[in-house]
Amino acid sequence: DWTMAEFRQTKIAEIREQVGTGRVICGLSGGVDSAVAAVLIHEAIGDQLTCVFVDHGLMRAGEADQVVSLFRGHYNIPLVHVNAETLFLSGLAGVTDPEAKRKFIGKTFIEVFESEAKKIGGAEFLAQGTLYPDVIESVSFTGGPSVTIKSHHNVGGLPERMNMKLVEPLRELFKDEVRDLGRELGLPDIFVGRHPFPGPGLAIRIPGEVTKERCDILRKADAIYLEEIRNAGLYDAIWQAFAVLLPVRSVGVMGDGRTYDSVLALRAVTSTDGMTAQAFEFPGGFLPRVATRVINEVKGVNRVTYDYTSKPPGTIEWE
Ligand code: XMP
Repeated sequence: DWTMAEFRQTKIAEIREQVGTGRVICGLSGGVDSAVAAVLIHEAIGDQLTCVFVDHGLMRAGEADQVVSLFRGHYNIPLVHVNAETLFLSGLAGVTDPEAKRKFIGKTFIEVFESEAKKIGGAEFLAQGTLYPDVIESVSFTGGPSVTIKSHHNVGGLPERMNMKLVEPLRELFKDEVRDLGRELGLPDIFVGRHPFPGPGLAIRIPGEVTKERCDILRKADAIYLEEIRNAGLYDAIWQAFAVLLPVRSVGVMGDGRTYDSVLALRAVTSTDGMTAQAFEFPGGFLPRVATRVINEVKGVNRVTYDYTSKPPGTIEWE
């Protein structure tokens, strides 16, 4: 039996032992795991660590800024913030197939990361926020024994390609333990308690073609939905909640005019590990309130629906 305080000290000693005077690069995804790994490693070896945040422009409203200010401002950890929105969006132009989107984003992410790592130069270690479930289900936790349902976006293959050694201090932990460790390390609750967010980001929540305009519409709608969820005190009861911007337009009426705008789907699920999930049942009045706010406040959306599909047979994300 061990406490998180002991785990922290043990890992710090192990990291120092492994790395010595070497240099470490850590890719931040914007999520909890890579952030906790980076903060822990920084505590162990200080400025021998450099973090690289490849910002694909497909994050939610405010999330990229939150990562940058947390690392640079709060922890004073050296951070390279690569704004690659244009690169990602131009490559996604005309791409509508879900797997093609995932593959392009994964490949481009690795290319950008690799080129930044070369610029930093001289690092022989790569840090990753790999968790225990990633270790035991290293193929894909959404696929069955032989089918890939979705190609997961991760940095697998990168260490060999770059000839780097791995530093993976979270390999023995489950998600809830990573959250405890994050709190132990002083990460803000709002960051540590965040719902999971997929590597390919908003691109897989915009079925059809992904454009800057559609990302902006989705970011606004999604922010309203999450704000209402937080205000209702429901955020922590939900595993994941997000909006999906559909490639469908419907006719509506606003004031005394006709509208012909996009349809938005809201999704919220409960789950313990993401392998199975159930649609979350909101209290009465909640969804109509969100629908009204989204339609009034987000130009380009005139209809809102709720997704009641369980996993299986659905998946949590739409793509
Ligand atoms: P699905 O949609 O397969 O998602 O039911 C299960 C969980 O995995 C997340 N997800 C991803 N996470 N990279 C990630 O790190 C990915 O490419 C990816 N795709 C899906 C999803 O948000 C849900 O929590």
